Amino acid sequence: MSTSIPMHETIGVAFTVNGMSFSTDVEPRRSLSDVIREEAGLTGTHLGCEHGVCGACTILLDGEPVRSCLMLAPQAEGTEITTIEGLADGDQLHPIQQAMHEAHGFQCAFCSPGFLMSTLALLERNPHPTRDEIRQELSGNLCRCTGYETILNGVETAVRLMNGGSGE
Ligand code: FES
Ligand code: FES
Repeated sequence: MSTSIPMHETIGVAFTVNGMSFSTDVEPRRSLSDVIREEAGLTGTHLGCEHGVCGACTILLDGEPVRSCLMLAPQAEGTEITTIEGLADGDQLHPIQQAMHEAHGFQCAFCSPGFLMSTLALLERNPHPTRDEIRQELSGNLCRCTGYETILNGVETAVRLMNGGSGE
């Protein structure tokens, strides 16, 4: 007897997002990015290509950067998720956000959430990356506007801010 779930039926999924418990019923085929945006209301996670190429939908899942458009929502059961909305502390920007602001790291900013989440994952693993290491880590995130140099400058500014220095 088959144990598969018909696509029109829903199943429960529960995870933590930005420190808050979240649960909902979803069709098994729903992407995690859609559930984050449409069910949890966290629209800061952007959707560009929706097939794993652009990185705009990057979130942290149990501390690791993942493309939420490539995950099915039920796969997130029991995990801890951080989205771009989880970075700032009230009105206080996260140092990575402050750094990108100071370095003029974005233009239209559509790509920003993905870049910031990838940067957070990098700096938590390696607080002092070289510019080449930053370039390599962020090579899976695409930006149509900046030419990337100001984004790299922003990450280097974030490194200084997060290690107690100034943004200059
Ligand atoms: Fe997920 Fe482009 S929207 S990688
Ligand atoms: Fe526009 Fe990156 S700033 S896509």
